[in-house]
Amino acid sequence: MNYDSHVYSYDLVIYEGHSYPQSHPDHLATLGRLFGLTPQDPRRCRVLELGCACGTNLVPMAFRFPKSEFIGVDLSRKQLEVAEKTTRALGLSNIVFHHMDLLNLEKSFGKFDYIIAHGVFSWVSDERQEKILTICKENLKPNGIAYVSYNTYPGWHMREMIRHMTLYHTERFQSPGDKTREARALVNFLAHSVSGENDPYALLLRRELELITQSRDSYIFHEFLEEQNSPIYFHQFIDRAGKHGLQYLAEADLGSMLTNVLPQDIAETVEGISKDMIAAEQYMDFLKNRLFRQTLLCHDNIPLSRILDRRSLKGLLIGSRARPEKESVDLTPEHKEVFRTPEGTWTRVDFPLTKAALMTLSKLWPKVVTFKELFHEAWQMTLQEQSQEAHSIREKKDLLAEDLLFCFAGKVIELHACPQDFVTVLSEKPRASRLAAYQASIGAPIVNLRHETVDLEVSSRYLLMAMDGNKNMDQLADYLSGLEQLGILTIKDKEAPVSSDTHAGGLREKTVRIAQNLAELALLIG
Ligand SMILES: C[S@@+](CC[C@H](N)C(=O)[O-])C[C@H]1O[C@@H](n2cnc3c(N)ncnc32)[C@H](O)[C@@H]1O
Repeated sequence: MNYDSHVYSYDLVIYEGHSYPQSHPDHLATLGRLFGLTPQDPRRCRVLELGCACGTNLVPMAFRFPKSEFIGVDLSRKQLEVAEKTTRALGLSNIVFHHMDLLNLEKSFGKFDYIIAHGVFSWVSDERQEKILTICKENLKPNGIAYVSYNTYPGWHMREMIRHMTLYHTERFQSPGDKTREARALVNFLAHSVSGENDPYALLLRRELELITQSRDSYIFHEFLEEQNSPIYFHQFIDRAGKHGLQYLAEADLGSMLTNVLPQDIAETVEGISKDMIAAEQYMDFLKNRLFRQTLLCHDNIPLSRILDRRSLKGLLIGSRARPEKESVDLTPEHKEVFRTPEGTWTRVDFPLTKAALMTLSKLWPKVVTFKELFHEAWQMTLQEQSQEAHSIREKKDLLAEDLLFCFAGKVIELHACPQDFVTVLSEKPRASRLAAYQASIGAPIVNLRHETVDLEVSSRYLLMAMDGNKNMDQLADYLSGLEQLGILTIKDKEAPVSSDTHAGGLREKTVRIAQNLAELALLIG
């Protein structure tokens, strides 16, 4: 990016960021605990975000943890104005923003439990990349965790071709709008002109066209057309972090760290040629042609534990949205049962205790429990099966923990450092998250209490705004009906249009369905 030009590129084209659950202190604390760190409780911590843009990631964190302190830094005045407006509207007093170059961030900012730099490292000059690592060292508390994401090789070698070609083609255009349109046009032209079913170049162009077609203008402008975009190999990033006294803690996506998710022969080769875990992950990046990383760092003087076992789960809370595929689950050891989440991740299990544990979690959701509580429940459910098994209680605990960790890596269960604070069962007078209701009122993307950005259609947005804890379902249905009569929205019934004589009943049912969906999306607090 051009720091000297009169209009800063992020003031020219605002980056429409997201909430990033993988950067949330709850997730960072969870991974820290798994690997033997004792991170600060996110409900009482200090968080710094570098390149926080419009605050779409940081503000929801500050909203959720009022006793924690949040500082956002960005060079774009315009983006920070959006962040500040949201902060004022929500009346948050635990978050501040600094309009500044991160190069000028000093030790006087104090120390933080969590430092987040998402989508910044690859997009700044070498000097600023070094400064990011300096901040991650100097401003990080002894048990703190830094999260830095970056574009990586080898995947970016292929995407870089597209970047270079679009940069060349758009050089002669001035406005960001023209440049972005032309970048799209060039990739479209190339993808449709280079033929060959199995030609690697044609395949690459088609993949990139798909990405570009699905992406927003702001992403294309800042990813492909910015002056600065320097991907880096994982091992090089870790080397550079090491020179700053930082060590690799984990990847935000735990599953991508583990060789045992690979087919056995491939895993054995990777382990055989790798001198350490950094090399193993580097080889896995080669295997996956990886493009992007979200790496967690901590101080290099902290002893970490790399063995994931029952002890790693200590202090963590376990929850799962996975449901058994079959209505009745056979707990006997010889039967394999499939459990699947609404997102489509799944696992096949035969160990009775794990089957019972997953059934328990599915019934409890969104409640989360400790390993001890879960083991107790699962044990009670499988008393009959215990007699057929030779393992000691300790071995059974270990086997259950092993399965649960594997399920976590495969995103079938969730681990949390903090309890969930949303409800999934509709109360008589539902109350929506104030943040979500505000975002609905201004037409912004909506962030739920799991820090995910969710897509809602118009009637859901209006219902969210009306759910203030004072209206029952009849009143909410009347409210939606009023809006429909005014022509503001059409309440769509997925099943069938509601005939006029059953309108009142039908409308109430639909309102309940929409409300239930909002509850399932973790948007309600009562
Ligand atoms: C690609 S955007 C990512 C925004 C946000 N973190 C996200 O991922 O949605 C990069 C952000 O870093 C900010 N940035 C770039 N260079 C900076 C610098 N030297 N100091 C502070 N912020 C900077 C930009 O203004 C922009 O908001």
